[in-house]
Amino acid sequence: MKALVLSGGSGTRLRPFSYSMPKQLIPIANKPVLEHVLEDIRNSGVTDIGIIVGNWAPQIAEVIGDGTRLGVQVTYIPQDEPLGLAHCVTLAEPFLGDDDFVMYLGDNMLPEGTADIAEEFRASRPAAQIVVHKVADPRAFGVAELDTEGRVTRLVEKPQEPRSDLALIGVYFFTPDIHRAVASIEPSARGELEITDAIQWLLDDGAEIKASEYQGYWKDTGRADDVLECNRHLLGTLRPAVLGEADEASELTGQVRIEAGARVVRSRIEGPVVVGAGSVIEDSHIGPDTAIGQHCTLRDTRIRDSIVLDGATISEVPGIRGSIIGRNATVGAGADVDLYHRLVVGDHTRIEVAA
Ligand code: TTP
Repeated sequence: MKALVLSGGSGTRLRPFSYSMPKQLIPIANKPVLEHVLEDIRNSGVTDIGIIVGNWAPQIAEVIGDGTRLGVQVTYIPQDEPLGLAHCVTLAEPFLGDDDFVMYLGDNMLPEGTADIAEEFRASRPAAQIVVHKVADPRAFGVAELDTEGRVTRLVEKPQEPRSDLALIGVYFFTPDIHRAVASIEPSARGELEITDAIQWLLDDGAEIKASEYQGYWKDTGRADDVLECNRHLLGTLRPAVLGEADEASELTGQVRIEAGARVVRSRIEGPVVVGAGSVIEDSHIGPDTAIGQHCTLRDTRIRDSIVLDGATISEVPGIRGSIIGRNATVGAGADVDLYHRLVVGDHTRIEVAA
């Protein structure tokens, strides 16, 4: 079995970050989403992985390389324009050949893993096996209707009156039958080749489509608030360790991971928190639920429930929460700033200040 990971797309919902990096490289608990994805695929015994990449191909290749570091073998498949999930299958056909494969959206997090579902698929090999998850409001999702045996009877995109609360999430298992389906469908109203249309085509053609319910925590990290929520969830599972230094005047409580070369001075770290390699924390109170990237500097700052990306500097800010601070950003008190805030803010940035 092979894997096809979709790591192109436009990422408009994750602006401004998607202006300067692919959303699949946003760190969750200090590890890019895409690495979490590749590790899950590897843990289900699949190591031959094609990755669909768009304009951010060089940045993705720089981080993932040929996959050796993660114990997998990566083939990059360029996509000039994000023309839909089924379009990705078409592009990958030469790579996939006659193999069964798992298609995994590169911005989806399923931390409890999909190895069991991969096993189910290998054992019975239906034409397609979709992964579904119970959601509170199915109207925003593709929804699967099932019979009592777990076979899919119908797929409905964003139903106004859902007859099931099982949403399709970002993992699909396919036999090579899917290639006939993607070649037969037309672009949808939004101009994309939709994977749900291809699966529906298989259903109409009489193929067997099964669904497996993923019971664990699932998040599509397409929006900033989802990234933060997922970060909170994953930090809770972090292995605590102090590999860097924390001085005697500092207090570390709860699950705290200080990576090698990081320094904590006169600070309170309230886990779950991770501080990346080479970062310096001085006279600050960090956490809970906070991930600080590599080579960041935080001074005289109180921050919780946030993500700080590599190389950012924060100084003399008494309260930050629910925030994502981009790479090499600077946030802090200025010499000639009094009651007024001074902001140099990029496009589509969101800032909330005390009224
Ligand atoms: P989406 O999040 O649905 O699409 P998007 O990346 O365009 O995001 P937005 O809605 O914020 O503009 O895509 C799901 C995953 O599939 C994501 O990892 C990007 C990837 N993808 C491709 O690789 N090629 C495509 O043609 C599309 C539509 C998505």
